[in-house]
Amino acid sequence: MPPSLQVDLAPGRKSSLLLKNPVMPASGTFSWGLEFAKHYDIEQLGAVVSKGVTMAARSGNAQPRVAETPAGMLNSIGLQNIGIDSCISDMAPTWARWRVPVIVNIAGDTIDEFGQMTRMLDDVPGIAAIELNISCPNVDQGGIEIGQDISASARATRAAVRNTDLPVIVKITPNVTDPVALALACEAEGAAAICAINTVLGLAIDLRRREAVLPRARGGLSGPAIKPIALRIVHDVSKAVRIPVIGCGGISTGEDAVEFLMAGATAVQVGTASFANPRALLDVLEGLQSWMVANGVDDVHQLIGCALPPG
Ligand SMILES: Cc1cc2nc3c(=O)[nH]c(=O)nc-3n(C[C@H](O)[C@H](O)[C@H](O)COP(=O)(O)O)c2cc1C
Repeated sequence: MPPSLQVDLAPGRKSSLLLKNPVMPASGTFSWGLEFAKHYDIEQLGAVVSKGVTMAARSGNAQPRVAETPAGMLNSIGLQNIGIDSCISDMAPTWARWRVPVIVNIAGDTIDEFGQMTRMLDDVPGIAAIELNISCPNVDQGGIEIGQDISASARATRAAVRNTDLPVIVKITPNVTDPVALALACEAEGAAAICAINTVLGLAIDLRRREAVLPRARGGLSGPAIKPIALRIVHDVSKAVRIPVIGCGGISTGEDAVEFLMAGATAVQVGTASFANPRALLDVLEGLQSWMVANGVDDVHQLIGCALPPG
C-alpha cells in the first residue's frame, strides 16, 4: 500500500480544506497555475496557490526586480497582477474544473480591503480557501506594514474571517521579533491555518554602480538560504497554536519537506525552487513519498510534529 498523504488544513471548520497530499506551490511562484498545467498534471498536487491578488490590477515595481544571491534570490516584484475582478471572471471558471483545491492569495492595501476582497471571493466556484498576504515586503501600503503590527494583523484576519465561510490562512512575515505572538493573535481571530514564512528582508549592492541592485533597495530573500529561519519559525509557531501550520521557505526536496513536517507543519509550499526546476513540486512530492516508503512511515501524520518537544 502506498503511504497515506492526506491532510486537513481546516479541521472542524464550516468549509473543509482536505488535501490529497501536503505539497503545494508558494504564492507568486506558480502564477495562476494555468501555465504549469500545460506542462504536467497539476491535479497531482495537494493544492494550487495563486499569485497575490490586489483590488486593482498592478504593473509592479521598476526593473530590475530580482537579484541572485548565494543560496537564494532577492525579489521586489511589487505584486504585479491582474486585479481581483479579472481573477474572479477569467481564472476562477478554469479553477472550478480542476480536481485540486485552489487557494487565492490576497493583498489588501488596508485592513478594510482584506474584508472587501474576501467578501468578493466568498462563494465563487473554484476557490477553496483564501490566504492573506499581510507580509509582502515590496509594496508601500498593506503588506509587511500590516504584518509587522500584531494588532493590525489580528484586525486584517478578523476582517477576512467575518466575510467568508471559506478557510482563511494567514501568511506571516519572518521580519518580526515574535512570530509566535503574531500567529497566536491571528488564530484568536479565527484563522484556519498559519502559513510561515514569507520572504526575509534583504539587500544587494551593485559594486559598479555603487548603489543597491533593486530600485527600492530592499527586497525579499527566498530560497535555500532562508530554510533554517523558516524551520525555526514553523517549529516555534507549531508548538504554540492549535491550528495547522503550512511550512514555506527554501524547500526544494522531499527531505526538506520531511524536515518541515517533523517541525510541526501539516503541509508545505515550494516557491523559488520552481524557477530553477519547473518540476520541483513533483520532485518534492515524489521525494516525500519515497522517503516515507524507505523509512516505513505509512501515514504522513506520523511525521507531523514528531520533532516537537512533548506536551
Ligand atoms: C518572485 C516571487 C514572488 C512572490 N510573490 C508572492 C505573492 O504574491 N504573495 C505572497 O504571499 N508571497 C509571495 N512570495 C513569497 C513566496 O510565496 C514564499 O513565501 C517565499 O518565496 C519563501 O519560499 P521559497 O524559499 O520556497 O521561495 C513571492 C516570492 C517570490 C520569490
